[in-house]
Amino acid sequence: MNPSRIIIDTDPGVDDALTFLFALASPEIQLEALTTVCGNIGIEKTTRNALAVLELAHASHIPVARGCALPLVSTLGKAGEAVHGTSGIGEASLPEPKSQPIHQHAIDYLIERILAEPGEITLFTIGPMTNLALAIRKEPRIVPSLKELIIMGGAIRQGGNVTPLAEFNVHADPHAAHIVFHAGIPITLIPLDVTYKCLLTSADVERLNRIDSPIARFVRDATATYMDFYRKYESFDGCALHDPLTIAAIIAPELLTFEEHHVDVDISGGVGNGNTFADFMNVAKKPANMKVALDVRGREFVELFIERMESLCRAGL
Ligand code: RIB
Ligand code: CA
Repeated sequence: MNPSRIIIDTDPGVDDALTFLFALASPEIQLEALTTVCGNIGIEKTTRNALAVLELAHASHIPVARGCALPLVSTLGKAGEAVHGTSGIGEASLPEPKSQPIHQHAIDYLIERILAEPGEITLFTIGPMTNLALAIRKEPRIVPSLKELIIMGGAIRQGGNVTPLAEFNVHADPHAAHIVFHAGIPITLIPLDVTYKCLLTSADVERLNRIDSPIARFVRDATATYMDFYRKYESFDGCALHDPLTIAAIIAPELLTFEEHHVDVDISGGVGNGNTFADFMNVAKKPANMKVALDVRGREFVELFIERMESLCRAGL
């Protein structure tokens, strides 16, 4: 079977970086490009981190297009730094990348690539959806041309991680999420309901570091801050593989349990701003707008993640 051709829109971000490596370690996937956005950290650092992590994995042939530096309406908060560190990749230290982003803006790059090959590209958004929302507004024809959209974002029955009701990616740009949710794209949503069941432990990281590999050391150093945050605030010795779980929608969908629902997002600006909710009773009589993952075999996913990362490390990168 031909690999799925994917583009990842991203705000690296520790778990974003793990996602690129996981995609590169998975033969079912062909990672075609990264488009960066502000989110966990500012656009300069998310773009630098994207280039640096690709360089670490000897994948600098993959283009990086720089995207939006601000959300549509909200202002960029600092919540991401507490989790991902001021560098955006925890305590990891990667050399300044030799490669540069392409000249084209992420919005224009997404439009060009999606229109050029209708039905071929699967887009992953694992940060705020600002770039995609503006691409939809600039060129609505990308909606029927996109094969599928896989979103890490939202919290359906689960509470939020940045407010009691809202998940970080949606809360950072709720207006962008609203545009994307209602555009008519075939969406698969990977919310906190499932990502919090996919916990990477320090023992998993130690197991990976039995391999003498710069990528194993990167995973250890990048997740150190992330794990400190979880120990301190969520009393868990590990961290949630939020973004990497999106890859399972392609390589191991059997690990996920999906339901079709109409999902919306609160953009009223009040206490529930950025809250995502499913109309489980279909009281609004609106058709489902996405496939939502509401359960996962979490430990099996983490084992798959580690196995794939071990194979990448053994490849001598
Ligand atoms: O809520 C989790 C999401 O917020 C992940 O994408 C993580 O990278 C942060 O951006
Ligand atoms: Ca992210």
